[in-house]
Amino acid sequence: MDVLNVGVLTVIVATLVVAKLISALLFPRSTAKRLPLPPVVKSWPLLGGLVRFINGPMVMLRHEYPKLGSVFTLNIFHKKITFLIGHEVSAHFFKAPESDLSQQEVYQFNVPTFGPGVVFDVDYSVRQEQFRFFTEALRVNKLKGYVDQMVTEAQDYFSKWGDSGEVDLKYELEHLIILTASRCLLGREVRDKLFADVSALFHDLDNGMLPISVILPYLPIPAHRRRDQARKKLAEIFATIIASRKQSGKSENDMLQCFIESKYKDGRPTSESEVTGLLIAALFAGQHTSSITSTWTGAYLLRHKEYLSAVLEEQKTLMEKHGKKVDHDILSEMDVLYRCIKEALRLHPPLIMLLRSSHTDFSVQTREGKQYDIPKGHIVATSPAFANRLPHVFKDPDRYDPDRFAVGREEDKVAGPFSYISFGGGRHGCLGEPFAYLQIKAIWSHLLRNFELELISPFPEIDWNAMVVGVKGKVMVRYKRRELSVN
Ligand code: HEM
Repeated sequence: MDVLNVGVLTVIVATLVVAKLISALLFPRSTAKRLPLPPVVKSWPLLGGLVRFINGPMVMLRHEYPKLGSVFTLNIFHKKITFLIGHEVSAHFFKAPESDLSQQEVYQFNVPTFGPGVVFDVDYSVRQEQFRFFTEALRVNKLKGYVDQMVTEAQDYFSKWGDSGEVDLKYELEHLIILTASRCLLGREVRDKLFADVSALFHDLDNGMLPISVILPYLPIPAHRRRDQARKKLAEIFATIIASRKQSGKSENDMLQCFIESKYKDGRPTSESEVTGLLIAALFAGQHTSSITSTWTGAYLLRHKEYLSAVLEEQKTLMEKHGKKVDHDILSEMDVLYRCIKEALRLHPPLIMLLRSSHTDFSVQTREGKQYDIPKGHIVATSPAFANRLPHVFKDPDRYDPDRFAVGREEDKVAGPFSYISFGGGRHGCLGEPFAYLQIKAIWSHLLRNFELELISPFPEIDWNAMVVGVKGKVMVRYKRRELSVN
């Protein structure tokens, strides 16, 4: 080999070494020793994975978790859904930036319902600004005003009940929550004058969100056509209300007003269509979730007399201290009731599956020490309904035990962050959590103070078929009007 060749070879070897070093620095995962991929759920070829998912994701999780552990992949056609179950493996799910794990693709099916130009129809930078509008509309100073409206709505609603009777608690609470949400979120005009029209239109939007809509949101079926017409009519209604508010210069304390006054960083105000879309998104995020949670809370309180006594005692103490008044700060003192709601929500999170689309490879380590690579392109999923019942996090997990959140136990915290995920967490944690608790507490404090209640139908079952998983069938309750006596 002559000197020239040695030189050329040295340059080539040196170039390769440098290239390797640069690539190792820039793309560490592509050159690092690869970890194994997660185990795969066994299913029949082609449609097998889909069938397993459609038969019920919770059934599948319950079956596979003991066999495969906390990380595994389900193949549905060409898509790979990787499940990350439990706080040990789901931290990245909650904390990753949008560039790594995004919501846009997996929640695209909401676009025809929410409408154009909002939430999952816009880039993350715009979406972040729109979520800032939500955050501002749900700040404590705003919540204080909403609470007064929640309390009034509850008083008015239950004043229509007789001295005694039997009701379907699920229906009653659904109805009250939509009235309250209309008042606090959609505004006085809708609540006072247009309630019937607007709730019928929301009903059409709701019925247009079917399991098939997740895969084919624009499929030309009657339910989708009705959804699209309803969205159009809602936009017209809100355009009129917004124009009239702007013209009169009158300001209201509701989310509609906050969205009207919201401005993007570049100074651009929100358009009427965006305001409508954001209100629809708020109602979709908060309505079923809150009404389902109020119903479960009631069902558990009426079944577990010890907790019913505890929340009644708490109401008595607060009435001794503040009289009959209920406001934001008094609701915030209702810790026992808070824990009872939180525990109902642990056992029954209405959003049972959270999804992201992965754009970069990442790795996870299970609590047993197994490590896996999750390649980009996978859909990544975690399940509040499953994670909230893990026995190594929550003692006796199927038991209704609100005291697990009390000082000294705090099972939702001791195991680590992202143990209790009914409201999600991290980067996309629920922005409406305080609103939801206040609303449910306003309802239940009124019921506890004014009625004796008894559950007369069997303890309800879970309706796994609903998009937002709730209570199956009626929840019949016998009531008798009485004032909670303080002495
Ligand atoms: C019991 C009631 C509620 C439950 C269980 C609940 C649950 C959740 C969950 C699990 C997420 C995270 C979704 C994900 O990570 O993919 C979420 C996000 C969100 N929720 Fe709620 N929610 C409730 C009430 C509300 C209410 C009343 C509002 C508004 C008025 C609201 C507004 C939102 C918004 C805007 C987000 C998106 C946050 C983001 O992506 O940055 N939620 N909620």
